[in-house]
Amino acid sequence: MANVTVIGAQWGDEGKGKIVDWLASRADVVVRFQGGHNAGHTLVVDGTTYKLSLLPSGIVRGTLSVIGNGIVLDPWHFRDEVAKLAGQGVNISPDNLHVAETAPLILPFHRDLDGLREDASGAGKIGTTRRGIGPAYEDKVGRRSIRVCDLAHLDDLEPQLDRICAHHDALRAGFGHPPIDRAAIVAELRAIAEFLLPYAKPVWVGLNEARKQGKRILFEGAQGVLLDIDHGTYPFVTSSNTIAGTASGGSGLGPSAVGFVLGIVKAYTTRVGSGPFPTELEDETGQRLGERGHEFGTVTGRKRRCGWFDAVLVRQSAAVSGITGIALTKLDVLDGFDTLKICTGYKLDGKIYDYLPPHASDQARVEPIYEEMPGWSESTAGARSWADLPAQAIKYIRRVEELIQCPVALVSTSPEREDTILVRDPFED
Ligand code: IMP
Repeated sequence: MANVTVIGAQWGDEGKGKIVDWLASRADVVVRFQGGHNAGHTLVVDGTTYKLSLLPSGIVRGTLSVIGNGIVLDPWHFRDEVAKLAGQGVNISPDNLHVAETAPLILPFHRDLDGLREDASGAGKIGTTRRGIGPAYEDKVGRRSIRVCDLAHLDDLEPQLDRICAHHDALRAGFGHPPIDRAAIVAELRAIAEFLLPYAKPVWVGLNEARKQGKRILFEGAQGVLLDIDHGTYPFVTSSNTIAGTASGGSGLGPSAVGFVLGIVKAYTTRVGSGPFPTELEDETGQRLGERGHEFGTVTGRKRRCGWFDAVLVRQSAAVSGITGIALTKLDVLDGFDTLKICTGYKLDGKIYDYLPPHASDQARVEPIYEEMPGWSESTAGARSWADLPAQAIKYIRRVEELIQCPVALVSTSPEREDTILVRDPFED
């Protein structure tokens, strides 16, 4: 049976939560495979809003949920998110929530370093979520991480602590910050171990077993392809690979498990944090998109930057990530515009580009080439079939498909689950 991997095809915040929830209700297992609690997934289930940052969205409906080895896990945030959802009546236990034993931990000094660097960076700051994501991934690659499985071996932690503290103390000294209080860290880890360890599992074993049994696995990506450490707008990116292929390495299943790759694409473009954004609108139109689309970050509350749909970027995302079909979201935000613009290429120093040049300064200087289309005055909110959509909205969708060279699998027309036009069912494809 087919698996599905859901990823954001822009800069995150494409509305993955609702789509993942819809797919999760039909999956046997939901897996997070990269990122950490920098993600912000909002689900509206039976009128109740749930905000998740770290836990897989399937947990809200009690579906087996797995946090894979590819994520970085803040154990205190994990505890708090479990408690918050439990407070909303969600049933969470080590029976339905599994955490990879090999996942690296985000520790308080990662958060310190994230903030210290951002504060010291002035205009060059990345605008991170300051949750320690980047520094935790650096330690993973630097082979210094303390991992979930280390919590069961706290008496053997000294060599690992030596390595991680030597690295961080040198950096902290550079920022005029005191060294890590090792005793305090060990005490905090000891205290949280009791809560976290019951959830710790060799998740690759369970996932491979699920696969053999023909269970449906849904991989839930976080952020978006343009924030990918390799393929995104470097250095204004997150510190993980956000492309669909990471679902394999970040969970312990082979690449063929990835299945149908569903790219979530907003009908316009938004970005939180710093970095190039060719179609950004710093005018009334941008303001209008932000207000109609309620574009405020789930995690940090920051206002999102808004702009026209950039077909160049989404075509690039679809290519590097192998997107099978897209889910187009928030179409209703475009209701009522007289004219809509779609970016189809860039101009830079007299040259035309059909892809985003790699250097940040060129990315900041490219001039979008726009194609204009008439808008529609009718409301598309809540549409559940093509027949509910104005002809002009259908034309817009068809043009998007053509330009990004990727078919639409579904269209989402409100935060409600049922307000979806299904073209191709990713699980049945
Ligand atoms: P970090 O992931 O906290 O290191 O932040 C790096 C960049 O990714 C910043 O521009 C953040 O705003 C952005 N970012 C991280 N997570 C998300 C997300 O879930 N949605 C949108 N942007 C994100």
